[in-house]
Amino acid sequence: MTIDTSHGAQGERERVLIFDTTLRDGEQCPGASMTFEEKLQVAEVLDDMGVDIIEAGFPIASQGDFESVQEIARRAKNAVIAGLSRADFRDIDRCAEAVRVARRPRIHTFISTSPIHMKHKLQMEPEAVLQAVIDSVTRARSHVDDVEWSAEDGTRTEFEFLCRCVEAAIKAGATTINIPDTVGYTTPEEYTHLFRSVREAVPNSDKAVFSVHCHNDLGMAVANSLAGVKGGARQIECTINGIGERAGNAALEEIVMAIKTRNDVLPYVTGIQSTMLMRASRLVAAVTSFPVQYNKAIVGRNAFAHESGIHQDGMLKHTQTYEIMTPESVGVKQTSLVMGKHSGRHAFAEKLKELGYSLGDNAFQDAFRRFKDLADRKKLVYDEDIEALIDEEIGAAHDRFKVVALTVIAGTGGPQKATLTLDFDGRQVTRESTGNGPVDAIFNAIKALVPHSAKLALYQVQAVTEGTDAQAEVSVRLEQDGREFTGRGADPDTLVASARAYAHALSKLMAKQDRLHSQHSRATPA
Ligand code: KIV
Ligand code: ZN
Repeated sequence: MTIDTSHGAQGERERVLIFDTTLRDGEQCPGASMTFEEKLQVAEVLDDMGVDIIEAGFPIASQGDFESVQEIARRAKNAVIAGLSRADFRDIDRCAEAVRVARRPRIHTFISTSPIHMKHKLQMEPEAVLQAVIDSVTRARSHVDDVEWSAEDGTRTEFEFLCRCVEAAIKAGATTINIPDTVGYTTPEEYTHLFRSVREAVPNSDKAVFSVHCHNDLGMAVANSLAGVKGGARQIECTINGIGERAGNAALEEIVMAIKTRNDVLPYVTGIQSTMLMRASRLVAAVTSFPVQYNKAIVGRNAFAHESGIHQDGMLKHTQTYEIMTPESVGVKQTSLVMGKHSGRHAFAEKLKELGYSLGDNAFQDAFRRFKDLADRKKLVYDEDIEALIDEEIGAAHDRFKVVALTVIAGTGGPQKATLTLDFDGRQVTRESTGNGPVDAIFNAIKALVPHSAKLALYQVQAVTEGTDAQAEVSVRLEQDGREFTGRGADPDTLVASARAYAHALSKLMAKQDRLHSQHSRATPA
């Protein structure tokens, strides 16, 4: 299936497709791994937000990846669902199996085309690579009509060879051609020129949509992406919050708002509902525990804050003195006091709807109980508090360990002591431990209850809102055998949030071990 990128009802502004790869290139970076449920949650928000193509994962990578791509494909309402595959028939067939159930499936297949990658990574001659391009695209087209081909390390590929590969891929049936800046090396002028020249030199270039895919190693990913569009590309590959390999990918929210705000010089239009950008950003930050830097464009905490007296004075006289877009246009509401301890079920359900959540009955009851508990302890409950609470609740819904009770003795006297009760597969177990500080004591208690050898790779605390009674949002990352698992917890008590975050990360780690174990026993004949 092809997607219309013509002028259509948008007048002179050409439609640019947004291809989100948060769940593939984003999730691939160390520490950003998400659970099955978290991936479904992110995909749902991307679909609702108007993303044209969601790259849901790399199905051959693991059974877990396969299942999440397949479930996202099954659930997607509007978006094309793409899976990634190398130029290998087993990869492509597995990918086809995963995306087949989508209303609009896509196979995205790639191979390196630069001299350095062909020689050292693939150890293949250029002619063999060219043949692999033809074979892989042909194979993918035997499964689906919508096939994207990528020239990995495209910006460091010899021009003539790149053109031969692009022409061959289109001839074999590729409907989208992606020329990635895999190593974040190009510059805007260079990237514009590359797209113009390739489109001019390749005789069948009008039969495919061209795509940009930029990494941010030199901090130019967004500028390069927009420059590629100037050169004729009509699909942009990007991620929420710019997460991705090394310095990350081009940030979706920056691309969308640049096009919207500077439409005078960027005469394009996307299908993204920009008021959902903040929601998507918060969700991805929460499930990956990759915090958004305070001064990050569009979605950073300070992106719309005006601190200096001169700026505040200007803003009071006319908002456009210092504001090029409104906070509301990206989904930042003026901090709103939502509800207090007297708010009932109905008001809470309405608030969840307004914030974009739809919970099942049981999840709603649990969330409402936690909201009441929070409202009892915290004077002012803000939207951000509810979002932190629900995001944690959804993420931890399938956890094997849950924190039931925690008492901590802290202070100057030492040693600090924690008494922790966990619900462990439906059974309650309690342990008392000491440590070098209260957090260490809590983590030692968890280790005593659930022995494991994972190392603590990250412990991070952030306040959800302002004030000393603000909720703490804690992220914990555990590392074992080269794999990383991130958990988060939110509570006005930082120590309770810490215990929840650790239990959440450990539950993910154990779930992964169980899956590997059952895969192994299935693969090993009795
Ligand atoms: O950066 C890259 O080259 C990629 C390809 C697989 C598209 O992510
Ligand atoms: Zn990439």
